[in-house]
Amino acid sequence: MTHVAIIVNMALVPYVENSLPALSKLQNSSAQFRFANHDLRLAQDWKKLGVAAVVWDAAIVMCMYLEMGKVDLNGTLAIELGAGTGLVGIVAALLGAKVTITDREPALDFLSANVKANLPTDYQRSVVVSELTWGKGLERYPSSGFDLVLGADIVYLEDTFVPLLQTLEHLCSDTTVVLLACKIRYERDTNFLSMLKLRFKVEEVYYEKQRDIYVYKACKLPHRRDL
Ligand SMILES: C[S@@+](CC[C@H](N)C(=O)[O-])C[C@H]1O[C@@H](n2cnc3c(N)ncnc32)[C@H](O)[C@@H]1O
Ligand SMILES: *[C@@H]1O[C@H](CO)[C@@H](O)[C@H](O)[C@H]1NC(C)=O
Repeated sequence: MTHVAIIVNMALVPYVENSLPALSKLQNSSAQFRFANHDLRLAQDWKKLGVAAVVWDAAIVMCMYLEMGKVDLNGTLAIELGAGTGLVGIVAALLGAKVTITDREPALDFLSANVKANLPTDYQRSVVVSELTWGKGLERYPSSGFDLVLGADIVYLEDTFVPLLQTLEHLCSDTTVVLLACKIRYERDTNFLSMLKLRFKVEEVYYEKQRDIYVYKACKLPHRRDL
């Protein structure tokens, strides 16, 4: 089991374990940040849980973007997809949003512990951690029920592109804002953007050069009869 998990994880990143200093950051048992005037310390567990248990650069860049204040978060109903360690959801909550922080079932205990450890008591009731596997059981989440959908580094598995799009379509109303922070690693990643553009108006709102991360903002297009 462990071996399978590690091989799968390695296939998801464009470098081999131990080959780059960048990866030692992922192997560290914690990662520290300061966002929204709070010191945050996220536990990481790459060996055991892989991609869902480390903080990816896209999450950091998304938090930087949220801190800029270009998107209104105060009182906003937000949902985070593929939250991993939960950094983005935590920062959105600290900036005033009510956030449903989601990921697949195996990631949830680790995610909940990180959310709990990093939010002061008075913010705990602004967040809910719950299971959302893209495309599955979407009826458990209100259709068009969110003002903001957040996703950091969630566009990387081609098999999930269609269910991820279905999830966005389900969650979004005509006024919902979707923010995706993306590392463009492979050509297929841009295929997702092309697919998204069939249903959403997509614009690049931020690019962080050092980490090579793009933030895209997407809003549902009015329903077209010819589709
Ligand atoms: C590269 S990690 C990014 C984690 C976090 N957002 C960050 O930026 O640090 C991708 C995340 O997507 C989640 N994920 C992958 N496939 C998924 C699916 N089909 N449904 C829901 N989440 C999924 C993984 O569990 C993982 O937490
Ligand atoms: C691990 O991360 C912590 C911050 O959470 C940092 O202080 C420490 O230097 C890092 N250790 C290594 C070996 O990179």
